[in-house]
Amino acid sequence: MSLRPSDPAVNDEGVVGPLERGLAVLRAMSARAVAEPGREGLRASDLVRHTGLARATVDRVLATLIHLGYVRAAGREVELAPRHAYLMSSGIPEAVGPHAERLSTRLAESVSVAVPDADGVRFVVQESRRRTLSLAFRVGDLLPAERCAPGALFARQWTDEQWQAWRERRRTDPNDAGFPAVPRRPASSGVESEFVGRTRSAVQDGWAADDQLVEPGLIAVSVPVEVAGAQMCAASVVSHTSRHDVASLAAAVLPLLREVAADMSRDLATVLACERASLPARGGADQSAVAPVVSAKTELGAGYLQSLARGLAVLAALGGGPGGMTLTQVAQAVALPRATARRALLSLAQLGYVAGSDGQFRPLPRVLELGYAHLSGLSLAQILQPHLERLVEAVNESASATVLDGDDIRYIARVPTYRIMSVDIRIGTRFPAYATSMGRVLLAGLAPAERRLRLRRVVLRPLTRTTVTDPSRLARILDEVAANGYALVDGELEEGLRSLAVPVRDASGAVVAAVNLSTHTGRGSVPATLERLLAPLRDTAAAIEADLRVIGTALG
Ligand code: PHB
Repeated sequence: MSLRPSDPAVNDEGVVGPLERGLAVLRAMSARAVAEPGREGLRASDLVRHTGLARATVDRVLATLIHLGYVRAAGREVELAPRHAYLMSSGIPEAVGPHAERLSTRLAESVSVAVPDADGVRFVVQESRRRTLSLAFRVGDLLPAERCAPGALFARQWTDEQWQAWRERRRTDPNDAGFPAVPRRPASSGVESEFVGRTRSAVQDGWAADDQLVEPGLIAVSVPVEVAGAQMCAASVVSHTSRHDVASLAAAVLPLLREVAADMSRDLATVLACERASLPARGGADQSAVAPVVSAKTELGAGYLQSLARGLAVLAALGGGPGGMTLTQVAQAVALPRATARRALLSLAQLGYVAGSDGQFRPLPRVLELGYAHLSGLSLAQILQPHLERLVEAVNESASATVLDGDDIRYIARVPTYRIMSVDIRIGTRFPAYATSMGRVLLAGLAPAERRLRLRRVVLRPLTRTTVTDPSRLARILDEVAANGYALVDGELEEGLRSLAVPVRDASGAVVAAVNLSTHTGRGSVPATLERLLAPLRDTAAAIEADLRVIGTALG
């Protein structure tokens, strides 16, 4: 069976329309969850604005998505439910992820794996190391092919039509506004010939480089991961100009990167072959996706969008394996007649979520747009986030909030800025408390006995040349932090990184979080940093504390 958009089933508005609108709502919710972690709740009216759909349509879509468990209602808002993540599986992360992790550990550099997605490059694995000084991408993020190393590898196999589509996109979006994961770039005429040149080099060399295409400082080298001659993905080692230039990075990592890419190819081929062989056994495996499809029509009546439910069930079933499924297997897995499953597949293909060849259907990377973001209900983070946003707007430095988690700090909110040496860290990232400004603020906020206990327990490892590793010196520093009400750490976590933190106290006076601003040591002296950033940071902490008193949230 081929997938021709001219197929009458595809043009049947009754099938494609509700699915398209439902996926538009899911995409809008996912984009919001990525853009504003900790604040992913949206009202139906927001979704009307973001999707351009009518209110009644949004309501019907939401009723269906809530029924299916993709979305949950939280007061007057709706948010993505964790169950959603299962759509994301394509098999590639499972097959190559462990190799990426090992490589990253051996090199002590970030390693990522990306797949081609139209004329873009989409990350499916991210192993972040030493990335505090540059932007880190998330799984699911899409980059323009011409602004990263994997793009030049993928472009080696582009057809004339693909080059055409790429040129057209460059013409209509010269600043990369359509790629929210990357900083905008000024329009420039040299981009196209530069990319063509880099693609030619990639054909010759078999690897490609990124010399600060995304932002100043960020460099990468990539090699392809192929199965039976097809480029399935590309593996990249990412570093920073403070440690390497492109030539020295390539010299240092290419031999090992190539070895690991070969291991990835081998495992990916095995996984794909096993998946194919085991597919019949998986028929009907995802029963959770099946039941609501069948039963809800009667319960929800006309408000229920059956073709949306079927489309999502089919996507979920396809997400169960990387090797693809036949129409018969899909129909079995979702317990629908073949003709119905076929219509759903054709609709998904037309909307760009599914590809079919040789009778096998598989999900396309675009499914990542439907909400990979890890969603968790962090009430403290929700309170902090808008304050951090205002602070970043005022001082144009990245702001974060963390809590103490064992001997580490853990990020619960973060608002980055895009600028040279932007400091990028994600929600959930941990660092040793002793070497960070927020950690020192949090440690200084502990009762003296507890503080002493922790200092005795923790091993103080040097992370840079200047990390304080003498316990009695650290104890004195913490006394000062407690007395001054702030901590400033200069290059002890990472060379070149300066960070200033203050505590956030709850109504009882206990330190429940720390907020900070991070900047680059090259951007001024320590007194100048204090002069510029301490007052706005303290004002922010005070505003958060006022909120906490009003909200009276139980924290922790
Ligand atoms: C990344 O993984 O963040 C990455 C990879 C390749 C690039 C740029 C960034 O060219």
